[in-house]
Amino acid sequence: MDKIVIEGGQRLEGEVAISGAKNAALPILMAALLTDGWCKFSNVPDLRDIRSTIEILEYLGARVEKQDHLVRVDGSGLRRDEAPYDIVRKMRASVLVLGPLVARLGRARVSLPGGCAIGARPINLHLQGLARLGAEINLSHGYVEASCNRLRGAEIYFDVATVTGTENLMMAATLAKGKTVLRNAAREPEVVALADALNSMGARISGAGTAEVVVNGVEDLSPAEIEIIPDRIETGTFMTAAVITGGDVLIRRCIPRHVEAIAEKLRLAGATIETGKDNIHVKGSQAIESVDVKTLPYPGFPTDMQAQFMALMAVAKGHSLITETIFENRFIHVSELRRLGADITVSGNTALVRGVERLSGAPVMATDLRASASLVLAGLVAEGTTVINRVYHLDRGYESLESKFADLGAAIKRVA
Ligand code: EPZ
Repeated sequence: MDKIVIEGGQRLEGEVAISGAKNAALPILMAALLTDGWCKFSNVPDLRDIRSTIEILEYLGARVEKQDHLVRVDGSGLRRDEAPYDIVRKMRASVLVLGPLVARLGRARVSLPGGCAIGARPINLHLQGLARLGAEINLSHGYVEASCNRLRGAEIYFDVATVTGTENLMMAATLAKGKTVLRNAAREPEVVALADALNSMGARISGAGTAEVVVNGVEDLSPAEIEIIPDRIETGTFMTAAVITGGDVLIRRCIPRHVEAIAEKLRLAGATIETGKDNIHVKGSQAIESVDVKTLPYPGFPTDMQAQFMALMAVAKGHSLITETIFENRFIHVSELRRLGADITVSGNTALVRGVERLSGAPVMATDLRASASLVLAGLVAEGTTVINRVYHLDRGYESLESKFADLGAAIKRVA
């Protein structure tokens, strides 16, 4: 299993280009199941999760061609309605085939994704929404079976603003008969990107990015050419890396509007941040100030940046309170950061981070995608050598992370 080895102490300087957003690409690639013909996707990030998504699409019968960051998908050959356990367990976002399969074939049999490191991750709201659209839902032997001849538009209220729940039901509703209204819908940019992609395929969706999304069903959709938006979490990760190393980094090919909450917290921590049309210039300061953070649904501070920000607060002056309100178990990185010398106390969904003068390098274990990123950030400033094991977690969501950091001057390498 690959490891990442970092010699701490290097100040990051230079430019980095952000890759396409994993959490936009996953639902948008699945949307190709809703139509016959070749959909063309550009700026698709080269990640493990994208390869898992292609595996599912091909298993279901779609044809897929991938060349670098270009992926073409033809949903014409769709012949299976089942996403099996051994595929779903590798990537829980596979549940995003539910909506397209029920809408297109009238049935779906998808393995329940089960929990993961950061929480139980139920999909009850996905299923309640499909049932409101007229699908019959059965749970048996670890699978959810959904069937319906033709979905009918309905009013759906999410008691939690679920991102993939909103995406699954938005896709299902595009081919339902009549109008669907999604209330308390997720407002994330990836939801908006999916709605834009579906509308370019002929869907009639309005209100994406607000808490109320309206979908007027159509008879069928047609293939389109879609560019994947930049990854706001990768953007935030590099912004935080510039601050933690006291560096000076120009982040290109990003959308500053998508990272406003992150930029605000980094400014309070002492960073100087200037935004351009599609770039952000981040300069770290000598002293890092402690800042309290609470994770919230978009446009609040993203839960996917909580671990990375905690690494920054671990070497800030003073104390900070970090509150995780989205997932019930997203402090797994705390014990690994402690191995590097961080002083963190967890009580319920809040972590008290007492900044220390310096972290010290050590072998640590990556446990989930964003926790791994926080260990890289900590390793960049820890004294001596940090070895991060199980970096396959990183490969799920970051394309060529170590080479991007090396190009910015970090002493970082991947070893088999
Ligand atoms: C998406 O997960 C992202 N994944 C996650 O990113 C991200 O952390 C999360 O949204 C929150 O922003 C993808 O987009 C593929 P949710 P998702 O449904 O949709 C509860 C990463 O690192 N809930 O918005 O699974 C749930 O338990 C990943 O890239 C229900 O109770 O998250 C959680 O507490 C990690 N019932 C809250 O809602 C449901 O049916 C938000 O979850 C669905 C969700």
